[in-house]
Amino acid sequence: MGGSRRPAQATAARQPHEYRDPKPHAGGVQAPAFPKDAVPKHVALVMDGNGRWAKERGLARTDGHTAGESSLFDVVEGAAQIGVQYVSAYAFSTENWKRSPEEIRFLMGFNIETIHRRIDEMDELGVRIRWCGRRPRLWKSVIRELEIAEERTKNNTRLTLAMCINYGGRAEIVDAATALAEAVREGRVDPKDIDEELFASYLDEPDMPDVDLFIRSSGEQRTSNFLLWQSAYAEMVFDDVLWPDFDRTHLFKAVESYVSRDRRYGGALPNVVSAAPRPETP
Ligand code: IPE
Ligand code: IPE
Ligand code: MG
Repeated sequence: MGGSRRPAQATAARQPHEYRDPKPHAGGVQAPAFPKDAVPKHVALVMDGNGRWAKERGLARTDGHTAGESSLFDVVEGAAQIGVQYVSAYAFSTENWKRSPEEIRFLMGFNIETIHRRIDEMDELGVRIRWCGRRPRLWKSVIRELEIAEERTKNNTRLTLAMCINYGGRAEIVDAATALAEAVREGRVDPKDIDEELFASYLDEPDMPDVDLFIRSSGEQRTSNFLLWQSAYAEMVFDDVLWPDFDRTHLFKAVESYVSRDRRYGGALPNVVSAAPRPETP
């Protein structure tokens, strides 16, 4: 199993006051003082544009992935500064297996190395690492590294960083439906009791709240199968910057936009006088 790697044990539960402070931004940008309850609890990140960033510089696509690593960890420092509690990072989708074997091999190794290299600083910051994704097909060495990180950081409470690797929203929903069907077949669940809450309890990380703010870099305006169920009422922010050029300042800008929006969840804005009801049409 783990071989000579770091032992898979949690550090003796570090207390929140022992967590290190977030590192300052390299360019000296201060975190805005957002009102605590206005900050999105859960931010989803589609870290897109690494290949284009590399192409613009005449580099290999894989150099773009390497350059994108610091973007994620700078965003995590910024998220900790403003009090975001959950960050879900889309690092490899169930559709990314369509890429060349060389790029896939690179990305698998890169994910292992990144988690291994970053685990200490994440642990010291009080970050809990979790893995969201499907087991089949994913390299066992990647799963092992993720499970070591999960175990090591399981008591941390400042922020949860969900690494979404071999993740797909539809796959997650199909897996939940399969598990639920099995529970019905075994008589553990009565189909009459199935509602949204029960269904959601079969998803990958049922205790994580829904996504409040969904950010995608690189100018593409689509979800690409990320957290479909959890983002039903997420506020979307599409930023043109390519992922390796993204940092916490882009997160702050997205949160600024987020705090100015009215989230209605299908209801009406309060204190807005409704128009007189129209007669029902036959
Ligand atoms: C996102 O960057 C990283 C992964 C999907 C792993 P891309 O590799 O998709 O970069 P572009 O979209 O080709 O520029
Ligand atoms: C989404 O980006 C997946 C990740 C960022 C891991 P893609 O580059 O794979 O998405 P598409 O192909 O542009 O929709
Ligand atoms: Mg892409």
